[in-house]
Amino acid sequence: MTGIEELPRATFTSFAESTKEDWELIMSQRGELEAALPNRILEQLELLRNDYGGFPVDRLEHSVQTATRAERDGRDDEYIVCALLHDIGDVLTPYNHPDVAAVILKPFVSPANHWMVKNHGVFQGYYFWHHLGGDRNARDAFNENEHYGYCEEFCAKYDSPAFDPSYKSNPLEYYEPLIKDFLVEIHGLVMLNFFLNSLLFES
Ligand SMILES: [Fe+2]
Ligand SMILES: [Fe+2]
Repeated sequence: MTGIEELPRATFTSFAESTKEDWELIMSQRGELEAALPNRILEQLELLRNDYGGFPVDRLEHSVQTATRAERDGRDDEYIVCALLHDIGDVLTPYNHPDVAAVILKPFVSPANHWMVKNHGVFQGYYFWHHLGGDRNARDAFNENEHYGYCEEFCAKYDSPAFDPSYKSNPLEYYEPLIKDFLVEIHGLVMLNFFLNSLLFES
């Protein structure tokens, strides 16, 4: 028991019957949900541990290695978080995994970083799709996009090389404070909460 189960609840059985007071009660408990987000992300990353799928390193090592390479190349915190989370959807959505990281990160990152995460799959394809009978140049469909070079660079410098078993990556624990700070303090679920409150309770 966490105590959360004991908190008061709204009594409606349908959204159509909900009241302003119901929503004020729900929003008053929203902080619990938001505060738990970093730990949920860390738990999801943990699911990548020991999942090799035939690759030289497991999916968690690939993730921390991508982040570590970006960090050691001088990238900022936002970029490092994107690098760390870019494949978080691998085990949930094998056919469109970049979308998962993209939707998680969208409220917290720049349009360039969001586009990079969302589209990294087709840019990674340049390095191997031809071995599987695909078009390695499929990324060229985006060559007019302003973020093409930014995404190409992410894959070339950090994502593509991050399969080296001998590379000394930072462990996931090293990135726990960054994830917590980034999601809760720096880019502010507080701000998001304020925004939602102002929309819901504007009189
Ligand atoms: Fe990926
Ligand atoms: Fe990757």
